[in-house]
This record gives sequence, structure tokens and C-alpha cells, in this order.
Amino acid sequence: MASEKIHVFDTTLRDGEQVPGCQLNTIEKIEVAKALEGLGVDIIEAGFPISSPGDFNSVVEISKVIRKPVICGLTRAVKKDIEVAADALQYAERPRIHTGIGTSYYHINYKLNSNEDDILQRAVDAVKYAKKFVEDVEFYAEDAGRTDNEYLAKVIEAVIKAGATVVNIPDTTGYTFPEEFGTKIRYLKENVKGIDNAIISTHCHNDLGMATANTIAGVINGARQVEVTINGIGERAGNTSLEEVVMILKSRKNLGLDTSINSKKLFKTSRLVSNLMRMPVQPNKAIVGRNAFAHSSGIHQDGVLKNRENYEIIDPQTVGIVESSIVLTARSGRAALKHRLEKIGYKMDQKKLDHIYHEFLNLADQKKQIEDDDLEVLAGMEERGARNLEITSLQVICGMSTNPTATVTLNLNGEAFTESAMGNGPIDAAFSAVKKIVKKRVRLEEFLIQAITRGSDDLGKVHVQIQHKGGMYYGFSASTDIVTASVEAFVDALAQIV
Ligand code: KIV
Ligand code: ZN
Repeated sequence: MASEKIHVFDTTLRDGEQVPGCQLNTIEKIEVAKALEGLGVDIIEAGFPISSPGDFNSVVEISKVIRKPVICGLTRAVKKDIEVAADALQYAERPRIHTGIGTSYYHINYKLNSNEDDILQRAVDAVKYAKKFVEDVEFYAEDAGRTDNEYLAKVIEAVIKAGATVVNIPDTTGYTFPEEFGTKIRYLKENVKGIDNAIISTHCHNDLGMATANTIAGVINGARQVEVTINGIGERAGNTSLEEVVMILKSRKNLGLDTSINSKKLFKTSRLVSNLMRMPVQPNKAIVGRNAFAHSSGIHQDGVLKNRENYEIIDPQTVGIVESSIVLTARSGRAALKHRLEKIGYKMDQKKLDHIYHEFLNLADQKKQIEDDDLEVLAGMEERGARNLEITSLQVICGMSTNPTATVTLNLNGEAFTESAMGNGPIDAAFSAVKKIVKKRVRLEEFLIQAITRGSDDLGKVHVQIQHKGGMYYGFSASTDIVTASVEAFVDALAQIV
């Protein structure tokens, strides 16, 4: 029997991008949108156009280049929001306006200072107004997870009558249990007149770690669209992770549900988003974590060697993790590197290939064997492009019985500046030297060093998060020299504020 289709609505560029410090510029957003189109998502929520000129512009530019998926813009149930969203979506081949309002007791009384009848009217008016601009209008009942089912059904019935094509039932606070959320969807399916004229959508947050479970409960009970983000990124504990939902539906065929996602592109898309947003993927993250398919115990290794299915429910190749047959070393040529990059999903023009080849040789000189994880990092850094703040030289003196000292040269807007400083270690000294040049008041909020693969010759990945004038900025770099990687990551974050 053919599976029923679940529409994948990706909100990485809207709800996902609300993570403090993970903001992307328009070029980066287009890059992500293209990757999402290649992955096969049905709808891309490209932004919240009225929220900022940057968001507006990104929705415009994404609408111009993305042809296959529906492009969606978020609004509140406010006329001006809807007009601005319609304007931002003017170039979209298939535009959708996503409008809505809070329906829970908390939102109605404490956020909107209103009452149930007024909220219902505002919901209907917003949908009717959006329909003047586009045919495809999605309505969200914010905090539906904590909304009384009877009132929710009344609102949903009214907005469908007003023309909503999709009705989104967000568990905004990540509060519900899977059974509760599933029952809510079933209740709407069974009690809303006209429900078959609209698609029911889930939009679950992960505050209690149940976003994926709730989403699956939703589709089992009748929802046919899932709102998700790559790597589950999003405010607080994040949104439902796209890759988890896709692979659950693919692996559990008995549900009779499937998506149009090309699962072989999941890993590559996960790494692209992680690199561009400078948001590391936790190593034990389901489906795309570094350890998701790594068997370390002897019993498991033995079992997997006898038959992969003894301990693996998913073949790693299904999500795009390919095992290397060509070993890349300092003696490998451009063709081998290009072939390997393409295998893991990176197509590069000659200029980018020449540049990454140079970086590859530098790395291969320091590391005997280059693995796919290393290439993912090099390719991710390549995608980042040129910056107006770059490190050109770093020297440190450190060791026992020495005062750690660093001398750093930075290229700032085309001009070279050199400073030296001391610190309690080489990284502290180098950061102080960088700060002397950049002259910005910043606070280091997070500093994380991770090894990528194995061995003392491994690449060290460094993530830093700094705070400047209330804003958060992430920086990332990788090198076999962790002092260099740390300073580069710090400079990467600073480059966003100079
Ligand atoms: O979590 C939520 O309720 C939302 C809506 C704006 C759709 O993100
Ligand atoms: Zn949300």
C-alpha cells in the first residue's frame, strides 16, 4: 500500500534562526534555502518580514531563487504585518502567509489582555485579510498545546471557514505529552466542521525533550504537515528536528506515512547549518550526531561485523554518511579531493576548489589521513567566504616557568595591526592581544574545544560565543593547532561586530 504524504515545513530560517547569536546574513540564508530545496522540503518558512529589514530582504531574495518549495512568511494577526509579508513574498512562485494569534488562557489574558470572542474575531479577520494577497494562508493558534480543546476547535473551524488552507497547532512551550498532543489533533479531526478542507500541522518545541515524540503522535492522529528545523535548532531547547521525524517515518513503514525528503542529504545539510550558524551538533544527537553510528563496545562491534542490523536500525549511508574507499593524504591530487567532496555533497567551482585544496594540503601536512569529518569542516569554512577581520600571524610563547605571551597580527579592513599581550595561558594571552587591536568591549560567554576524529594529530574544532552590547555572536574555526583555532574562532565572532 502506498504511504500517505507528510508535508515537511522547514522553519530553520525563522524559528531556528531566533537562537541568540545564530543569525545568518542574506547570502547564508540563501545557501541554506538552496540546501533545503535540494533536500526536498515542501515549505520553507523564510522569515518574519516585519521583524527587521534583514528578515524582509531575506524573504525577498529567497523568493527570487527558490522555485520548488512553497515560500512562507510569518506574521502576527495584524494588518500591517500581513501587508509587509505579502510585499516580501511578491516574487515567490508559491507564496504562503502564516498568520496567527495566541489562543491559550495565558496568552489571551496575560499577553493579549483580551477575551475569547475578540481573539476568535481577530483570527478570522487576519485570515480573511491575508487571503486578499495570497491563496495559501496558514493559521497558527499560538500556545495551542495549552489551549482548551473546545475553544481551539471553535477557532480552527472559524479560520477554515475564513479560508485557511493549513491550520497549525503549536505546542509553543513544549509542555504537552505525546498522548495529550495526539488526542488534541484527533479531537480537532473529529470535532471541527470542514477540517478536511485544511491540512493540520504540528509545530512542537522541545522544552521537555518531547518535540519529536509529540510530532509523531500528531501525524499518527491525523496531522499531515510537520514544522521542523535542521538539527532541531530553535529558541530555548529548540524545535522538532527534521532529520528525526523523517527517519522515523522512513524506518517505521508500518505507520504508512512518508515524506519527500532525500534522506541521503540529511547529514550534509545538518553540517551546513551547524557550520553557518556556528552551532555545534551534540555528538550523541540522533541521526546526525558524530557518534550516532559509532559502535565502541566490543560486543556491539562484533555484532555489527556479523550483521549490521544486529545493532543498527538505519544504514548510515541512508542519511548520507559515506564510508571512504579512497584514502586522502598529502599526496592526493585535486581530482581525488573533488571526487570526495562531491561524494559528501559539496560541489565547488575551480576557484573554491583551488582554495580548499591549499587548505587541504596544509592540513594533510599535519595529519596523516584526512577523513570526511575533516573535509566537512574545511568545506564549511570555505562556504563562509572573506571577512573584514582576519588573522594573518600568531606567535605564542608558553610552557612551564614562562609567562605565556602572544603576538598577533590582524588584518582589519585591509590594514595590518600587530599587538602583544600576556595572559594566564597562550589562549588568554592571544585573546588579550586581539582585544587590544579590535578595541571592542566584549564578554566571552562560551568557549568550547572539541576533537573531531581521533589521535593526537586530530583537528581541534573551537566554538566561541561572545556578548557585545546585548547581542550574542558565535565564532568557529578548526585547526590541528588548538591555540590557532581558538584565536581564529574568536576573530570569526569579532568579525561580525567590527
Ligand atoms: O512556537 C510557536 O507558537 C511559533 C508560532 C509563531 C508558529 O513559532
Ligand atoms: Zn515556534
